[in-house]
Amino acid sequence: MKKVLFSVFLLSLTLLEVIGLSQRTYHVYIANALPNNSNAKLEFHCKSKDDDLGIHDLLPGQNWNFSFHENIIRSTLFYCSFVWDNKQKTFNVFDDSITCINQAKGDQIDTCYWLVKSDGFYLAHMADPPSWALTKYYNW
Ligand SMILES: *[C@@H]1O[C@H](CO)[C@@H](O)[C@H](O)[C@H]1NC(C)=O
Ligand SMILES: *[C@@H]1O[C@H](CO)[C@@H](O)[C@H](O)[C@H]1NC(C)=O
Repeated sequence: MKKVLFSVFLLSLTLLEVIGLSQRTYHVYIANALPNNSNAKLEFHCKSKDDDLGIHDLLPGQNWNFSFHENIIRSTLFYCSFVWDNKQKTFNVFDDSITCINQAKGDQIDTCYWLVKSDGFYLAHMADPPSWALTKYYNW
C-alpha cells in the first residue's frame, strides 16, 4: 500500500510538472557597483550545465539579468566567472531553489541580485536592494 501511495505521489508530481504548476520563474541579476573612476569594465560569463549565457560586460552603475524556470524537485545550478582589472572570481550564483545559494538563509525567493563591489560580491533577494538587504558572500 505504501508503495502504491508513493507511486501515486510520484505520478502526481510528474503530472504537475507536465502542466507546469510546480514551475517557478527565477530572476538573477548582476549589478556593477564598482568605483565610477575605475576604467576597467566588469566582465563576466555565466553558465549552467545546459546553457551558456555568453560573455557580458557592465560599466559602473549598470546591471544585467537573466530568467529561468525551475521545477521544485529539480536542482538547477548557474555559475559565473567575473573579471575586473587584474582580479578574477568564479562561484555559483544560483544553486538553491529556496535561497539562491546554499549558504544563504531565509524564505522562498525568486530573485537573486548580485551586487559587485571593489571589496567583493553581495547578494540580496530583491532588485535594487537597500544596503540593509545585502549580504556579502565572496571576496574578489
Ligand atoms: C557613481 O556615480 C553615481 C552618480 O553618477 C552615484 O550614484 C554612485 O553612488 C557612484 N558609485 C560609486 C561606487 O561611488
Ligand atoms: C532584464 O534584461 C532585459 C534584457 O535582457 C531587459 O530588457 C529588462 O529590462 C531587464 N529587466 C530588469 C527588471 O532590469
